[in-house]
Amino acid sequence: MTPSEQLAINGGPQAAPAYEGADQPKIGLEEFVELADTWGFSAETQAAIRAAIEKEQVASPMLSRYYNPRPSKVKALEELCQETFDIPHVLGVNSGTSALSCAYVAAGIGPGCEVIVPSYTFFATVAEVVTARAIPVIADIDESLTMDPADVERKITARTKAIVPVHMIGTCADMDAIMAIARKHRLMVIEDAAQACGASYKGRRLGTIGDLGCFSISSYKITGGGEAGLVMTRDPFLYMRAQNNHDTAACWRPDRYATEREKGELFCGYNYRMSELEGAVALAQMRKMPAQIQRWQQARRRVAAGVRRFAGVTPQKMHDPNGAVGHLLGFFAPDPKTALALAEALRAEGIPTNSRGDSTARDWHVAAYWQHILERKSASPDGCPWTCERNAPFIPDYSPEMWPRVTDLLSRLFSVRISQWWTESDCDQVAAGINKVLGAYFRPMDG
Ligand SMILES: Cc1ncc(COP(=O)(O)O)c(C=O)c1O
Repeated sequence: MTPSEQLAINGGPQAAPAYEGADQPKIGLEEFVELADTWGFSAETQAAIRAAIEKEQVASPMLSRYYNPRPSKVKALEELCQETFDIPHVLGVNSGTSALSCAYVAAGIGPGCEVIVPSYTFFATVAEVVTARAIPVIADIDESLTMDPADVERKITARTKAIVPVHMIGTCADMDAIMAIARKHRLMVIEDAAQACGASYKGRRLGTIGDLGCFSISSYKITGGGEAGLVMTRDPFLYMRAQNNHDTAACWRPDRYATEREKGELFCGYNYRMSELEGAVALAQMRKMPAQIQRWQQARRRVAAGVRRFAGVTPQKMHDPNGAVGHLLGFFAPDPKTALALAEALRAEGIPTNSRGDSTARDWHVAAYWQHILERKSASPDGCPWTCERNAPFIPDYSPEMWPRVTDLLSRLFSVRISQWWTESDCDQVAAGINKVLGAYFRPMDG
């Protein structure tokens, strides 16, 4: 054997001591400039950004949360939420829908379970009950536009596992009543706070009152920039199960490949992990949230205080007017036609106002249009979960007429969109404008 044939492992020369082709970072300058383009920076600014960052050699970032050598933005977001929401366990996920899936599965919802949801919510609240292979039971709403506790109680059966109050359009559900019903019947409460991030009920942030809280922090919500969600709980076992559902690859576990530490820890889940890109944006958004909510609440309070009472106009019922997000001020007109006319008259005054009136446009927020539920749609050819032995005998006979109040209330609702940026004098002119329009239609009740 010549010296060059000697194996390197035995002290001979290496066959491949160096490579001419140097590794390039996987994610670098180009990806960063693409992000700047997403933000909408001009070509000139993008060129300046490129020039500035070209000078600095940075290691390729990892944009996923687990096993990241750099401090995780998703983890920082979760820690900020723990503090802001005063709750020990927060899990970042990739959408509000995934948050609901995690919460339902964590709570043990599955075949043979019924889950009570309101007739007014984004369809995801209901859809994830079905993907958990359980049966949604739909309670109607009241003048707060959130679930009516009396209807919830009427709909409880021996199979009911959980109640899902949804804090729609930034207002809170009647949490005292719902928690009392849940305690009486030993049910879980899973709050859907997707539309009310940062709002509170009697001093406690929404999403932290029930057993689990779910949030969407997508670009359509008051806090959030893309597609993301959060699950919150005080219960370490529920947190652990939510984690397993969000990352079936088990990267969340202290020892990923360890055997099950506790019964219920390991099961087949999904990949609902939040990316570091989303985490970074959501972190910045969440830092802004408390001040933003405060501005909205102040503006809403000032406008509401300046609006007179009129016979024939009913303000939206508020379970905690000071705790609501405050971006909407809702009223019910006596009929849909008047609601539309009032909204139009208010807009003509320069006051941003919406009403759907008696429009029959399909809307995934209203039970009457949930075709997937009404027609018991299934992703699988065997019709699961509707046909499942444990569910089939108990499926409600869904029909749009089952929820008369949601249709009536939404048709008569007109709501003023409050800006968090309005000054006191802006608020006063809006209140005066509302009084002007309502005064032209109705008699003031305060003389
Ligand atoms: C009440 C409610 N729940 C759940 C969701 C689902 O959130 P996401 O769109 O982030 O999946 C939404 C989003 O519109 C919502 O409004």
